[in-house]
Formats: sequence, structure tokens, C-alpha cells
Amino acid sequence: MVMSGAGGSAPGAFAAVRAVHELGALIALGQLVWAQVIDVRVDNRVSRLVPASIAVSLVAAVGWLAFEAINMSGLSFADALAPSIIAVVLEETLFGRVWALRLALGAALCLWLVMRRRSSGGPGRGERRAWLVLAGIYVATLALTGHAVAAVGIERALRVVADALHLIAAGAWLGALPALALAVAAARRGATAAAVDSVARATRRFSAVGVACVGTLVATGIVNAWFLVGSRLALIGTPYGQWLLAKLALFAIMVAIAAHNRQHLSPQISAGDRSALGRLARNATIELVLGIAIVAIVGHLGISVPAIHDRAVIPAFLSGDAAQPTYPTTDAVSPVPMSDDAIARGRALFVAHCTSCHGDAGRGNGPQAALLPVAPADLAQHGSMHTPGDLWWMIAHGMPGSPMPAFSPELSDTDIWELVQYVRALAGTPDASMHP
Ligand code: HEC
Repeated sequence: MVMSGAGGSAPGAFAAVRAVHELGALIALGQLVWAQVIDVRVDNRVSRLVPASIAVSLVAAVGWLAFEAINMSGLSFADALAPSIIAVVLEETLFGRVWALRLALGAALCLWLVMRRRSSGGPGRGERRAWLVLAGIYVATLALTGHAVAAVGIERALRVVADALHLIAAGAWLGALPALALAVAAARRGATAAAVDSVARATRRFSAVGVACVGTLVATGIVNAWFLVGSRLALIGTPYGQWLLAKLALFAIMVAIAAHNRQHLSPQISAGDRSALGRLARNATIELVLGIAIVAIVGHLGISVPAIHDRAVIPAFLSGDAAQPTYPTTDAVSPVPMSDDAIARGRALFVAHCTSCHGDAGRGNGPQAALLPVAPADLAQHGSMHTPGDLWWMIAHGMPGSPMPAFSPELSDTDIWELVQYVRALAGTPDASMHP
């Protein structure tokens, strides 16, 4: 799957459809969790919210597919939406196959719920349980549309499972907040002792579920960050890392409010204090708004370059001076020593891959140089201006926004270290295997 990165077509709209889709799915699951685990005698409006939010998520999914087709094909909006292109995306990409299955599942669940509402008699236990399971699958399989599937082997399995649990926990907690708000509102309207009593019970149960969910969210979030961010530098020095920090800050506020509800409001409501109901209604709304902001950030993160693959730049206000570009490999030591042999192999690779632009002696005057919008660097000079690890990174990953191509994975890591040693030799700098 091609990630569009920040430069894809209309990235704001793409992130938005992903966020709306996810929010719809989470809210559907949350209402069902509420109706099944928290309070079986739910308000009518809670159960009406389930098919409505699935319907919204399905509409957003159609938009998501369109953006994915545009990004994968690289075609314009009109061309990418041709049936032939959409068919290729649906049949030949993992995203497309997952999308089709999830769409069918969501539509089936939505229909089932709508038909059941039309028919007389409430749903049976088994039926409700089936809805909960289907909604859980609908939410969990979102993990197959994220960054996790780009990994391989056991790491991929671990990350997909972590993401799926993360989503389920988000659904059971954040997604259930509308049900909490509706239940509290109903209790305030009714205001009979029995109504207050029942909402007090529901709040206690919800807060127990919330604790389990927050624990799951933190644990799986750490797994996710481990693989997508990787270092503190990447956390503060990349857009992905910074958005993730914003998400964590909002999450921390949500948890603080939930803890307050649990510690103070819930006991007050249980003790019959009706004014606490008003405060709980307000808090549930604030939490919901924070949750929506978090999902919006998640929509953006989903189409952003993960921090671990991005160049980290320490924000100027932290480094105290002009921002210095730093790569994950900045301080790497070459595993290939600077032997005659290594330089000869590096030279051969250089002739094969680099002289067309950088010139035979690396002075930046190859036959193609004049055709490029940016002059190729004079490596005899520039080779001494970077750490070996930075040179390695620039050759492996190219330079964003410049014609300098990425040579990984075409060249192996060792090939690239041999090139680094050759460039270092050109520039008259010492052996890159000795120190960074
Ligand atoms: C298509 C032309 C092209 C090819 C092929 C190419 N480069 Fe480059 N390279 C460039 C350009 C242009 C720049 C300058 C980019 C900039 O300053 O933004 C550059 C920059 C670099 C730099 C960074 C120097 C600095 O200080 O900024 C290194 C190192 C480098 N190239 C090494 C290589 C090596 C090694 C190869 C072969 C494996 C190679 N390049 C192949 C065009 C090319």
C-alpha cells in the first residue's frame, strides 16, 4: 500500500474521511457495549444511534476508498474513480479486500439493526451478542488498514493485534460516551429515585470498564509507538511524533476527567446527590469532544509518514539554535572498515549508480547534472560535512524534495556503507568504521 504522506492529494480531506469512518465505527461499538455490559434497559435513543453511526461510517468509507484509489494510482480525481481503477484497488490490494469485507459487514449489521427495530418485540440475548461481536470485528479490522500491515512476520502479527485491541478499547470507552451522556440526560429528565439509582449503577460499571480500557489503550499504544516512533528524538523532532504528543495530551485530560468522575461524581450520585448528575453530563460531553479530537488526529497520523521513517529535526526552541537535521543513523558506525577492497567496491557502485549526476570524481558535474533542478552536491567537499551515518541515510533514503534518489532497498546496507567509505575517501576524511 502506498502511503500518501503529507503530500498526497487533499490530505486534510483524506484524514477527515478516515476519522469520520473510525468515529462512526467506535460509537456503534460503544453503544452496543453499553447496551450489553453496562445497562441492558437502554434508552431508545442509544439503540437508534447504532445503525445511524454505522451508516455514517459506511458513507465515509466510500470517500476513503476514493482517496486510496487516487493515491495508489497517482491519477487525477476523475481518472482514479474509473471503475477499472477501483476494481484493481478492490481486488489486488490488501486495503481493497479488507475494505470490501468491512463494508459488507457494516452494511449487513446496519440492515439487521434497522429491520429489528421495525419488527415487534425486543432483541433476544443471542441477537444482541451477535451484534456486539459483529461491531467488534468491524472496529478491530480497521487495524488491517493502518501502518501495522506494512511490517512483516511476527512483528506484523504483534502490531495488528495491538492495534485491534487498541481500537476495541477505544470503542468500548470513547465510543460509549454518547450512551453515558444520553443515560445521564434521561435520568435528569426523569429524576425519579429509581432513575437516579439506575444511572448511578451504570456509571459505576462504566467506570470499571473504563479502567480496563485505559489500561489496554496505554499498553497497546506503547507497542505502537515503539514501532512507529522508536526514539525520543523522533517523538519531539517529527510531525508524526508531535501529533502523537498532542494526542497523548488530550488522552491524559480525558483520563483525568474520567478519574474525577469515578472518584467523586459516581459516589455522590450513588448517595443521591442530583446536582452531581449535571456535572457528570457536562464531563461526558467534554470527554466526548476530546475523544473526537483524538480520532481526528488519528485520521491524520494514519496517512502520515511514521516518525521512525522520517527525518527528525529538533525544534529550534528546544535546541536553542538553528534546527539541525538529524537522522536515525546519524551516530552509526560503519560495519565496513575502510579497506582498499571496500573502496574499490564502493568505487564500482559509484560508477554504476552515481556518476551520471555526481560526475566521475564526485564533483557534481555528471552528464545529467545540467538537466536537474537542483545541482548534485560536490561530494569531494560535502563528503566531509556529514557524519558517516548521515551520508548513509541520505544515500539509502534519498533527499526529500530533491532529485537525489533513494538507493535502499536496491542496494544492500553493506553496499551503501561501501559507498560511504568511498565518498569519505574522496573527501579525504577518516575511516567511518572508527567513530561517528
Ligand atoms: C539523479 C541524479 C543523482 C543520482 C543518480 C545520485 N545523486 Fe546524489 N545528489 C543528487 C542531487 C541533485 C543532490 C543535491 C540534493 C540537495 O542538495 O538537495 C545530491 C546529494 C547527494 C548527497 C548529499 C550531499 C550533501 O551534502 O547534501 C550525497 C551524499 C549523495 N548525493 C550521494 C550519492 C551517491 C552515493 C549516489 C549513488 C549511489 C548518488 N548520490 C546518486 C543527485 C543524484
